[in-house]
Amino acid sequence: MDLSPALAGKYITVGVTGGIAVFKVAQLVSNLKARGADLHVIMTRSAQEFVRPLTFQVLSGRPVYTGLFEHSSHYNVLHVDVATQSDLVVVVPATANVLGKVAGGIADDLLTTVIMAAACPVLFCPAMNVNMYNNPVVRRNIDDLRGLGYHFVEPGVGRLACGAQGRGRLADLEVILENITRLATPAGNLRGLTVMVTAGPTIEPIDPVRYLTNRSTGKMGYAVAEAAAGKGAKVILISGPSVLTPPRGVDIVRVETALQMFNVVMERFPETDIVVKTAAVADYRPKDVARQKIKKKGDTLSLEFTRNPDILAELGRNKTRQILVGFAAETEDLERNARQKVVRKNMDFLVANDVTQSGAGFGADTNIVKFVFPDGTIKPLPLMDKLTLAHRILDNALLLFNKKG
Ligand code: CTP
Repeated sequence: MDLSPALAGKYITVGVTGGIAVFKVAQLVSNLKARGADLHVIMTRSAQEFVRPLTFQVLSGRPVYTGLFEHSSHYNVLHVDVATQSDLVVVVPATANVLGKVAGGIADDLLTTVIMAAACPVLFCPAMNVNMYNNPVVRRNIDDLRGLGYHFVEPGVGRLACGAQGRGRLADLEVILENITRLATPAGNLRGLTVMVTAGPTIEPIDPVRYLTNRSTGKMGYAVAEAAAGKGAKVILISGPSVLTPPRGVDIVRVETALQMFNVVMERFPETDIVVKTAAVADYRPKDVARQKIKKKGDTLSLEFTRNPDILAELGRNKTRQILVGFAAETEDLERNARQKVVRKNMDFLVANDVTQSGAGFGADTNIVKFVFPDGTIKPLPLMDKLTLAHRILDNALLLFNKKG
């Protein structure tokens, strides 16, 4: 079974209902986890009669949701929270009961409420007794749901848990996994698009032996380049000095100063569809670079600085079809500053990083960020590794790119 991280960064909600096939879902959840999915399991009351939530809690690495009125983070309503964050809701096994409820517009528990509120694809994997599956009411419900755009994985044929023979056993896990991957990653396909990523710090020379720089390592930008290449994009990685190895297959352009970065970015911009600007660009450079090494003299030394061009703002002024994603490292007033910045620089969204939080910022392998949109909307993301975040950023950028049309 292919366990490559094809689902890295994907928020997948697994709705488990009460059928004997629940025991197979434990293996499915484990495989989804191995594929890198960010898993959220909801169990109906009858599902808990078969398997305890603890099983899924351990396999998914997260608490299992069992009730509509549980406490949610960020003071949001739980079912809306889960529904809006999901890239896919998969109901497995899907009993005749849950199909009937959804087809009839009933939302009387957490799972059916999430399904009702979901804006993402919903995939049902039915499993039930053959007579139930062939019952005209169930057939009608499935047809109605298909007609409304719900997705299905047909159950398999064979010996059923109840002893009967026929169609009704849960489809092969491999088939379910493939369907989940296909439905959860439509935005994952960047083939045919060019993504430009800026990464790392810039360095601004003072004299032939000294320069000013910052703590950026390039990890975030290199992760975005890796994720974009993995999704099939043509990738231009414009990197300030970094010890990292560029991902395979990307077009790497190495620069040092903000002015060099500015020139390359502007030159390559017309061929670009999505720009992700993770680079920590120096806002100022020494006004004059001394031709000779500066000798020490008095107790203090003053340097005069001049403004560097703001590359992102310039892209914002010039953008046509491109989606512009900026980064901001803030240490205070994150939301207010980010909301202003996203508008001022004409970005499509901003990835705002509170670098004072542990697990965030320079050199870390993880980030805790918020997506900030020009209309003021803020989407907080949980702590995640930089590659997962890179996938999220690109999925969001592609969604906006497609919307822009
Ligand atoms: N950026 C840029 N060119 C610059 C400075 C920054 O393209 N000369 C880009 C960065 O790559 C990043 C974004 O702008 O994507 C935000 O940078 P930041 O320094 O946080 O924002 P500023 O607008 O410079 O705001 P402030 O100085 O108030 O922090």
